[in-house]
Amino acid sequence: MRKKLLLGNWKMNKTRPEAKEFALGCGEMVSYAVSHGIDVGVAPTFVCLDSVLDNAPGDLIVAAQNVNEHPSGAYTGEISIPMLQEIGVKWVILGHSERREYNGETSKACNLKIKALLEAGMIPVYCCGESLETFEKGETKPFVEEQIKTGLADLTPEQAEKVVIAYEPIWAIGTGKSATKEIAEDTIGHIRGVLKGLFGPVAENIRILYGGSVKPGNIAEYMSEPDIDGALVGGASLTLESYRGLIEGLVG
Ligand code: 13P
Repeated sequence: MRKKLLLGNWKMNKTRPEAKEFALGCGEMVSYAVSHGIDVGVAPTFVCLDSVLDNAPGDLIVAAQNVNEHPSGAYTGEISIPMLQEIGVKWVILGHSERREYNGETSKACNLKIKALLEAGMIPVYCCGESLETFEKGETKPFVEEQIKTGLADLTPEQAEKVVIAYEPIWAIGTGKSATKEIAEDTIGHIRGVLKGLFGPVAENIRILYGGSVKPGNIAEYMSEPDIDGALVGGASLTLESYRGLIEGLVG
């Protein structure tokens, strides 16, 4: 049985005081989620990670939005795995379409980061998803399949089981144009099939999230689909009120 997961991706939003305010205010809703067997978390910017960790209940998952695969060295502007571990971060989002588009992040680069995170005992949340052009050409499945195969190359089934996948069609991100639950399930079901081919029966234990214009009003629809295990949410994860609505939708 896969545990449901709600992860808020704050992207480049919130100052430290704003992040702290969220952290201090989310205690009750986090307990509510946990008591219903649901994992919940947020991914603040690097400079807000410690503030959220210090002020939120320990049950709130706190994820970074990127990491460098090298432990230290001449990599200006980068943050390493030991640096995240030192402040208590255990989860990292990788391969988000915005990082692929604006920062040249490739599936191959994600693969190095995923392997380094798993070796460090951390949890990668690996994002995949196609552009509108690819979607309209009907090429979503082979496109996403390639991202999965390259990003998760060389992993053992035991390692793969620890990874969380997020399917986020680029055309649905921040556009208010969410994919229908049928489209999301069709692609996510295909991803699970690909994982089965790569890693065998453990594919049934790998959590796959949907992301793209998920809101309190539509999250429950996705949860009714058999292969969708939760959501990676941008805009609607930013306020306490909306985040509570997402949890309520997830609890059902
Ligand atoms: P929105 O929920 O704002 O569409 O963003 C989705 C996303 O990119 C989460 O990583």
